Amino acid sequence: MTISLVVGMPGAGKTTWAREQEVALPALRLTPDDWQMAVFDADSPDRWRSRERADHRDRIEGKLIEVGMRAAALGIDVIYDFGLWSRDERSALRWIAHSLGVDAQVVYLPIDYPEQRRRVAGRFRFEPGQFRMSETELQRWHGEFDVPDQEELRGGPVPPVPTGFATWRQWACERWPSLSDR
Ligand SMILES: Nc1ncnc2c1ncn2[C@@H]1O[C@H](COP(=O)(O)OP(=O)(O)OP(=O)(O)O)[C@@H](O)[C@H]1O
Ligand SMILES: [Mg+2]
Repeated sequence: MTISLVVGMPGAGKTTWAREQEVALPALRLTPDDWQMAVFDADSPDRWRSRERADHRDRIEGKLIEVGMRAAALGIDVIYDFGLWSRDERSALRWIAHSLGVDAQVVYLPIDYPEQRRRVAGRFRFEPGQFRMSETELQRWHGEFDVPDQEELRGGPVPPVPTGFATWRQWACERWPSLSDR
């Protein structure tokens, strides 16, 4: 069984890809945005970037990681439609999957800035309830995104866990506080 880690900036087409694959494979698609928008449905289009919502988002993701790992261990293909900007996040999820005997692959959807701008603006116009993103934010985020390298895309060895952590699971429990430590 495989867990697909869908990696890409906003508007790269992650959810579109994940919706196609959930039918084609078939697979269990886990999209934290759906949960955040459903639970906090009264939020303004800008509220998602508050500290409080970022914490909620991390907690939603932690529980979805657990659901996905459990489903994969039971023999179901899984898609994490999370974004996963940081290489450490991807390493942690690959390590946890391997520890359960499950394969995990990084699926990277690149996007250049002009196309991203067009898509994000178009989506906000036509899909009510989407998070609003400014052009300045989109530009800044390109500098904060760890583009996956060939080694990661090939499914090479998971890098060593950062200093101060015994395992990648321990690191993941700090990154996603709702994730159980076993
Ligand atoms: N391959 C594509 N070509 C053209 N438009 C696309 C493509 N994939 C997605 N889109 C359109 O771009 C917009 C953003 O796509 P989508 O919502 O799948 O991105 P996303 O990566 O999930 O973004 P976010 O991180 O904000 O959730 C949508 O309006 C979608 O219809
Ligand atoms: Mg999406």
